[in-house]
Amino acid sequence: MPLYKATIAATASYLPEKVVTNHDLTKTLDTSHEWIFDRSGISSRHIAADDEPASAMGIKAVRKLLEKHPINPADIDLIIVPTSTPDMVFPATACIIQSAIGATNAGVFDLSAACSGYVFSINTAAVFIESGKYKNVLVVATEKYSTILNWQDRSTAFLFGDAANATLLTRAEEGHGIIAMHGGTDGGKPELLCIPAGGSKNPVTAETVKNRMSTVHMKGGDVYKNAVPRFTETIEAVIAKAGLRKEDIALIIPHQANIRIIKTVAKELGMSADKFMVNLEHYANTSSASIGLALEEALAAGRIRTGDYVVLSAFGAGFSWGSTLIRW
Ligand code: ACO
Repeated sequence: MPLYKATIAATASYLPEKVVTNHDLTKTLDTSHEWIFDRSGISSRHIAADDEPASAMGIKAVRKLLEKHPINPADIDLIIVPTSTPDMVFPATACIIQSAIGATNAGVFDLSAACSGYVFSINTAAVFIESGKYKNVLVVATEKYSTILNWQDRSTAFLFGDAANATLLTRAEEGHGIIAMHGGTDGGKPELLCIPAGGSKNPVTAETVKNRMSTVHMKGGDVYKNAVPRFTETIEAVIAKAGLRKEDIALIIPHQANIRIIKTVAKELGMSADKFMVNLEHYANTSSASIGLALEEALAAGRIRTGDYVVLSAFGAGFSWGSTLIRW
């Protein structure tokens, strides 16, 4: 039995100022707003400035969080930064954020799980809190996908946006908090969604740059076909682990990849699409930042009340998938 339960104390997001609409994309890509919106539900995305790396966005999200929920940064025990777009290979982006916010007593690390990074980080944070080892854990999901997209590839460029979210986890009050978690991986076909070069397998060379191998490569149809059953599986698994029924769930906050994936998952689960928080239209897929962004909006809109059962659920490259079930 865990010593404590963990819960989400506060969450805050940062969106860069610049907005790029689907219509803007048609100036450089052979595409249309209608095609993009019909296939994905996306109409615009935010794009970070050239001098605004992932750490800078993450720091801004943390500052907004600290305004909402003041805590002495020295009381943060651990910072986890899920990101696919770290400032540098090392040091971890978490180090840069730690220094900027003055979290002088925190151990920190980045977590690599692509779009599943937020849920995997929340679950990792929860286990540290449940064990009694740490009290305050900060998750800073920050993504600058604009730097890893091939802007000439019409099949991937429209899907992603830049954003950051900071979420603070702490000990829950009696009767509240994270009550179940689930995770899964199938690493058999990494090539279906990957960045082929820039790592130790294919280091950067003139050839890899010429062939744009350090950008997102995706077999969209295969990703779609895997995402639907895995989302369905992980949501069912986490509800079962908590000993609950689907009817008990007030809100599901899925990773915001594509409206069609979310609607199909709702149908597969036999649940109303209204129980799924969706806000991807104006942000696109912000990878590990997307669930935090949607959670903050759901809270602000009054869609989560004390005592509600809420599921956070993700699917991403790997393939990897996972969920968290929280009694708010
Ligand atoms: N504009 C116009 N036409 C396009 C575009 C575009 N931007 N992109 C592709 N097309 C064309 C293709 O060339 C193809 O033309 P063809 O039939 O003449 O060959 C046609 O449209 C259909 O292309 P498909 O790739 O089959 O389109 P599909 O219906 O599969 O939709 C999409 C593509 C939206 C990417 C879909 O596969 C999808 O949603 N996949 C999931 C991917 C995803 O969400 N990834 C996010 C990362 S992973 C995660 O976060 C979970």
